[in-house]
Parts: sequence; structure tokens; C-alpha cells
Amino acid sequence: MAKKVILEAGRTFSEFSLLTDYTSKDCNLNSINLKTNLGDLKLGNPFLSAAMTSVTGYEMALALGKEGGLGVLPARLSIREQVEIINQIKGYEMGFVEDPVSVRDNATIDEAVRLVEKHGHSKIPVTDRNNVFLGLFNFDKYLESNETPAENIMTVITKEGELPVTNNENITVDEAKKELQKNNYLVVLDDLNRLVKIAFKKDVDNIVVGAAISTHKGWKKRVKECDKAGADIFVIDTSDAYNEFTAKVIKEYNAMNLGKPICAGNVITYEGAKFLMENGADVIKVGMSSGSICTTQREKATGRAPMTALLDVEKARTEYYKNTGKYVSIIIDGGVSDAGNMIIALSVADAVMMGGYFNHFFEAEGEKYDENMQLTTHEPDIKYIATWGEGSARARNLDRYGHVARKTFFAEGEEGTVQNWGRLKPKLKQDIRKIKAALSNTGCMNLKDYHKKAIIELMSPYTQNIVGDTHDMKVKE
Ligand code: IMP
Repeated sequence: MAKKVILEAGRTFSEFSLLTDYTSKDCNLNSINLKTNLGDLKLGNPFLSAAMTSVTGYEMALALGKEGGLGVLPARLSIREQVEIINQIKGYEMGFVEDPVSVRDNATIDEAVRLVEKHGHSKIPVTDRNNVFLGLFNFDKYLESNETPAENIMTVITKEGELPVTNNENITVDEAKKELQKNNYLVVLDDLNRLVKIAFKKDVDNIVVGAAISTHKGWKKRVKECDKAGADIFVIDTSDAYNEFTAKVIKEYNAMNLGKPICAGNVITYEGAKFLMENGADVIKVGMSSGSICTTQREKATGRAPMTALLDVEKARTEYYKNTGKYVSIIIDGGVSDAGNMIIALSVADAVMMGGYFNHFFEAEGEKYDENMQLTTHEPDIKYIATWGEGSARARNLDRYGHVARKTFFAEGEEGTVQNWGRLKPKLKQDIRKIKAALSNTGCMNLKDYHKKAIIELMSPYTQNIVGDTHDMKVKE
């Protein structure tokens, strides 16, 4: 007889709905932030791209890092490859945005909003027909105004005189960096006030990046070299971390005194999480069998519904905090695929790791295909992007799944394709706005508030049919 049989079904994110709470007038999309911490590492937003070879390489880590998230470089890469990418990210030099996307002064607000949605930039310069700079459309400010989309753009822009502008067309990167200590951006014009380029402070900030390691031979060398290159966090990436090897790695890692957080995972139970915390993990990663490409449940009937796993790990974290005063951050990993999932997951977790979601973007590592499934690098033609699991026959990440030799290998992940969603920035920003809107509905200014105040409620399958989507109508194609 099994030690325990749980007859209550495990739960996933989309089975829950978030309740509202009182919202004060200063709790809006502009004032809410999604900052989070992983141990001592501060992130601008709570998103991690999965340590998967189909997802995270230089382009993904850079694009996500620039938005304040964290790319985790797969342990399947060689040490040299990981180090090279970290070097590139840390050496990334701010450049000017030449030829910035702009609108004419006769455009409507709606036209500018469409550009914001398409490109993800929240500031769009406005020019006259001779490209003379008139001011800046600031999407965040517009959200606070009462203007309607059909109005002329000039009704909402910040005028040229009120903005950080220089007429030194030949300004160097170093000179611009000095200016950016005072303001978040700098508009560069020529001596006739025509728009030339813009520099953004965000591009000067330190971009953070993580390195996944295994619990197998060579992990220490990897840590040493990636640490030297500037990795900000190390992530032990194993499909089941409730074991002796992981505990040993955490202890030895901590003895190295690098002053950088160690994340260990994955676990799915209270006991597994407690074990990792007691062995010194600063961050715990949760999830098994819920990944979009994952076949673990099918192959060996092992894993857990992600929300249930998360709630159990949270219980262990709260207890550990009470006993020791150490707050261990939790990353939920696997099965989070849209803003709704993120909103429910973040009511408990400190951050969300996503593979499938990020795989949809141009910056993902997977090969790109056109509509006839022919390989292409021509961006407008890309319809599909290749995806594969770390446990798939293609990646054969033997270390992650504890296979000692190729002989014991069986696949626990699929290979396939996902739709191309274009560049990461516009979609991620859109989803960030959805998350902030949900936080605003609950009257929360940040994730810390949200953890304290969020109330989520389980829906019955009947309710899901009514609340979960449209009903009794046909959606226009
Ligand atoms: P997703 O966001 O639902 O796609 O889940 C991503 C997560 O799936 C990763 O971060 C890993 O934890 C997990 N994963 C990656 N590759 C495999 C695999 O081949 N089999 C099972 N799980 C995998």
C-alpha cells in the first residue's frame, strides 16, 4: 500500500480567479511596480526565461535582461559557451537608438498607441513634416489622461522645451551616459532641431544574467568561470532536486563564498522544499511535469499540478522564515503560458520561469520557419519557431534527468514548433500591463503587497465555462 493516497485533485493556475479589493486613486499602471528579489539579486520584473537550449542564448538573455528580467543560460551549453554569452551581456554597450520610430504631428493618439503596441516602446517622438522634433508621446502619461484615442497627438505630448534634449549631434556615448544620470532618456537633435537619435538610461543599467549548472562533475569549474565572467545567480537545474547530490552542491557552493544567490530545483513537495532550504538554498524552483514540452507524466507518471506544488512549497517557505528569519524566494517553473497564469502564479511565487512562452519570440534560440516550414532568417516571413525540451532526444540533457549514461536515456520531452509572436518587448510589455491592471484591481502597489492581500478562488468546471471565456456567442473571426 502506498504511504499516502491524496484524493483531492491537484490544481493549476487557470482554475483560479483573482478577487478584487479596494483601489485608491494613486494605485494605477504607472505607480505599480513588479520588482522582485531572488535572494539578494534584484530584478526589475519577475520573469525568467527557461534554461532550455531552444529558448535562452545571447539574444534572449539580452532582450529579457534589458526589460529587467533574467535569462538563465542552459547547463547543456559548454562552459565556454556560457562564459562567452555572459561576457557579451556584461560587455553590452549602450548605443543610441538611431532613426527612432516616430509619428507626425497630424497623427491621432490611436496611431501612436498602435506603434507602442507594435514596437513596445513607451515613448514615441513626434515630428513635423520636415522631421523637426516637436515633443514626445509618453504612453504611460497618456494612460493617466482623459483624452480619447481619436484626438490629435499634439493634445497629449510633452513639448520639446520640457524634455532633456541636446543639439550636439555628435555627442559621444560617454557624454550621453553623463546626461542619463539626470534623466531617463536624452533626445539628440541636429542644429535645425531635426530628430537624429535617442539614448535611454535603461540601456546603461547593468543587465543581469543567470547560469544553470548541473549536480554532476564539472559544476564547480562552471561556477568559477561563470562567476569570473560576471554571472549574477546560479541555478541548479535538475528535474528532481530532492536528493543528496543537490544538497552537496548547495553546501559546496555556499562554501565558495561568492556572495551570489544559489537557486535549487526543481521540487514539488513541502518536504523537498524544506530539504533544500535547510541545506542552504536562497531560492527554490518549483515544478515537474507541467512544462509545455514535457512528457514526464506520460513516461513515468511522476510530477504534480503546478499550483498545488507551489502552495505546498510556500507553506515550507513561510515556516522556514518564521524559524530562521531567512526569506527564501520561490520561482514557479512550467505551465505558465499567459498573463492570466502569471497573475495567479505571482499571488504566491516571487518569480515565474517560462520556456514555451519565451520560445514564441524572435529572440529564442530555436530555428525559424516560414509558412511552408522552410528554414528562414527573414524576419517578416517567420511563422513558426522550433522548440524542444531539455529531456528530448534532441537536447539529451542527461545530467538534468539523472541519466548516468546514454544507455539509460529515454526522452521526457518533445520536439516541435510554436507560433512566432514577433519580438519579445511589445508582447512582454503588454502582459506586464495586464498584470499591473490585475494588481490595481486588488489595490496593490507591488508584489509584496500582492502576496499579502491577494485572494484567489477556485472555480468549478461549470464556472470556468462562464467566467473563463466568452459564452453563448460566436466570436467574430
Ligand atoms: P514551460 O514554460 O511550460 O514551457 O516549462 C518550461 C520548463 O519545463 C523548464 O524550465 C523546465 O523546468 C521544464 N523542461 C524543460 N525541458 C523539459 C523536458 O524535456 N521534459 C520535461 N520538462 C522540461
